[in-house]
Amino acid sequence: MDMNTFGHFDDSAREFVITRPDTPWPWINYLGTEDFFSLVSNTAGGYCFCRDAKFRRILRYRYNGVPMDAGGRYYYIKEGNTVWNPGWKPCKTPLDRYECRHGMGYTRIVGEKDGLKAELLMFVPIGHRCEVHRLRLTNTGTDPKTVQLYSFAEWCLWNASTDMENFQRNLSTGEVEIEGSVIYHKTEYRERRDHYAFFGANRPFDGFDTDRETFLGMYNGFEAPQQVLAGTSGNTLAHGWSPVASHRFDLTLAPGATEELVFVLGYVENPAEEKFERPGIINKTRARAMMDAFATPAQVDAAFAALRAFWDDLLGRFQVQSDVPELDRTVNIWNQYQCMITFFFSRSASYFESGIGRGMGFRDSNQDLAGIVHMIPDRARQRILDIAATQFPDGGCYHQYQPLTKRGNNDIGGGFNDDPLWLIFGTVAYIRETGDFGILDEQVPFDNKPGTEVSLLEHLKISFRHVTDNLGPHGLPLIGRADWNDCLNLNCFSDNPDESFQTTENKTEGTKAESLMIAGLFVAEGRDFAELLDRIGDPLAKEVRGQVARMEEAVKRHGWDGEWFLRAYDYYGRKIGSAECEEGKVFIESQGWCTMARIGAEEGLCDKALDSAVKYLECEHGLVLNNPAYTHYIKDYGEISSYPEGYKENAGIFCHNNPWVIIGEAMAGRAEDAWRHYRKITPAFCKDQSLRKVEPYVFCQMVAGKDAARPGEGKNSWLTGTAAWTWKAVSEALLGIKPQFDGLLIEPCIPVGSYRIRRRFRDAQYDLTLHLSGNPGVRTFIPYAPGRHTLTLDL
Ligand code: BGC
Ligand code: NOJ
Repeated sequence: MDMNTFGHFDDSAREFVITRPDTPWPWINYLGTEDFFSLVSNTAGGYCFCRDAKFRRILRYRYNGVPMDAGGRYYYIKEGNTVWNPGWKPCKTPLDRYECRHGMGYTRIVGEKDGLKAELLMFVPIGHRCEVHRLRLTNTGTDPKTVQLYSFAEWCLWNASTDMENFQRNLSTGEVEIEGSVIYHKTEYRERRDHYAFFGANRPFDGFDTDRETFLGMYNGFEAPQQVLAGTSGNTLAHGWSPVASHRFDLTLAPGATEELVFVLGYVENPAEEKFERPGIINKTRARAMMDAFATPAQVDAAFAALRAFWDDLLGRFQVQSDVPELDRTVNIWNQYQCMITFFFSRSASYFESGIGRGMGFRDSNQDLAGIVHMIPDRARQRILDIAATQFPDGGCYHQYQPLTKRGNNDIGGGFNDDPLWLIFGTVAYIRETGDFGILDEQVPFDNKPGTEVSLLEHLKISFRHVTDNLGPHGLPLIGRADWNDCLNLNCFSDNPDESFQTTENKTEGTKAESLMIAGLFVAEGRDFAELLDRIGDPLAKEVRGQVARMEEAVKRHGWDGEWFLRAYDYYGRKIGSAECEEGKVFIESQGWCTMARIGAEEGLCDKALDSAVKYLECEHGLVLNNPAYTHYIKDYGEISSYPEGYKENAGIFCHNNPWVIIGEAMAGRAEDAWRHYRKITPAFCKDQSLRKVEPYVFCQMVAGKDAARPGEGKNSWLTGTAAWTWKAVSEALLGIKPQFDGLLIEPCIPVGSYRIRRRFRDAQYDLTLHLSGNPGVRTFIPYAPGRHTLTLDL
């Protein structure tokens, strides 16, 4: 199929336009910029939550819900015997016209049927905890129309886990109230909760339902609600069972007439002493205020304009203008947008992540900072302090923490020995962007325990030391539970299918398992750390440099396989990622990190390693993680060998690590290779929407590799470190705009002749026109100075 089978980019509107509803996988968008967030698919499926997708989930969605994509905010239109939805689902009644535009923080769906046009705009306004839906119905025909419009949402009873696991209890907890046109969901409010949700409309309704079985009718799905089919409402007040919210409006539209309705799906928290209006009756003051804020279409327009201005400002901080439209749209719009979304959610809530399982990753959240720090530095600052506060006094970390409580949890364990170094990575990225050295003096506790505070700088020192305190027999970093690759489990040895590869450690005593990925990371981050210490006059810089030099020597002596960098030593001290191995001879992570760290560059090691990556790892769709893939389970290696060949960590194209090689290539001055690798994983360059399946506007975590059944098929879109890392690769390594502690280093490496960059940097605005001669390694430094600067650079 050709490129635009299912949709195309509209760059001037910053939208992706989906032109048919039956996309190969739901193509979703995210709404929200603060703490109220929504997932919305191209058929209006998905759910919303406040702050935490597990504990404060508002709409019920059955995770692992594809292909059904069942549940969302649905509008049904009934005219005569025809019932249809503007977003096609759930009824799937054929539409005369359908279009979905996913934009920056909003989604617009247009459906048209039999001369009635429905335009639905959905967004989360800034400063409010709600979704606003503006629904415009227009009679495009020549006869008057009488229709019934139904809204529908199904409440999740807050804790998305127990809502699924312990529903016998939940079937007796549901409670609602109705006031005017607002349906309130107050389940469990009587006890410890001080929050409720509501779904309201800005005009009186003609009927309503809050009892799911009455609305749908027994044995019906969302596609055939009995009330809608009958043109009635049950006017039910749910008590126990499963509460939902549905309004009915009976409308008559003259030819050419438009009816505009505004719905607000909101969330409120009340102070404990103001919980109730009267005994048992929730205090609705805040909800009424929110309804009032969006009572008229003009108010909605103003809030929508503010949202657009918010994104204009953010994205305007880095804009490129080249003659490659795919590059421009990726850099200017979608990559930055995805970085923001990934920053908000870490790896918790998507159509591939349930929102109940994984919180915020320590390593993931640090890496995500690199994608957003130029847009929202204040939030990056807070995030760094939150993350550091989950660290232990010895530098080790919980692998993840819960966004609501900001406490570390042991669900995926700890002891991943790369984790501490990412705190240095994130902090350096933040200070280079902002110049805010003051963050280093912030007092931050360990494991969130009051009284244990030390400065952030001390946390960084401890992080660094965590590596040097944990070296193996070759002087290389011990891998611990795992390094960046969660699935290379060298101390696990599991033959019990009920054990988690991440939390099981059957042997650690006497382990010789060492990681070349951490070694490369340590050298690269150690250098940055030393530079940071120099800036603040801290004498530890010298020792850090010494340790870095020792590590480089260890890598050259024990980490080089002849044509590429080894990946690891296993528990017994045997090589992984070596020509000696039967399978898994070459791995990407160590080629990426050791070439980014330029280890052995002078001796030609980096060029050789990059050549090997091209030779063994590159395929049509990108660079695979390892080659050859493992064909059977190897207990000594763990989860990596559990996947069939070509998927995930077993020789999938794990997009997150491709930018490491891209940056390594650029640092070696190999512009053509860097650019080719970049284009292969970047969705805007992808030629086949049907094969890739997932959204053509965002990176996905994994594309099936050359050994898979369908190479090129994408999975796990949206929440992936790929967003921040490709951002770093394209903005810094390819386009060459590299923030430093006191200015911008301009050092491009891209086979594109000329381009313009608009870059906000602290209180400065740089308008740069770059003309590249094609000679690698040409660079210039622009010291930071506030104000506007227009420069033409011949490099
Ligand atoms: C996945 C990894 C993931 C890990 C931790 C594994 O099953 O393959 O990509 O990081 O689980 O949840
Ligand atoms: C996904 C995890 O979120 C990330 O932390 C990890 O590095 C990769 N999987 C690779 O295993």
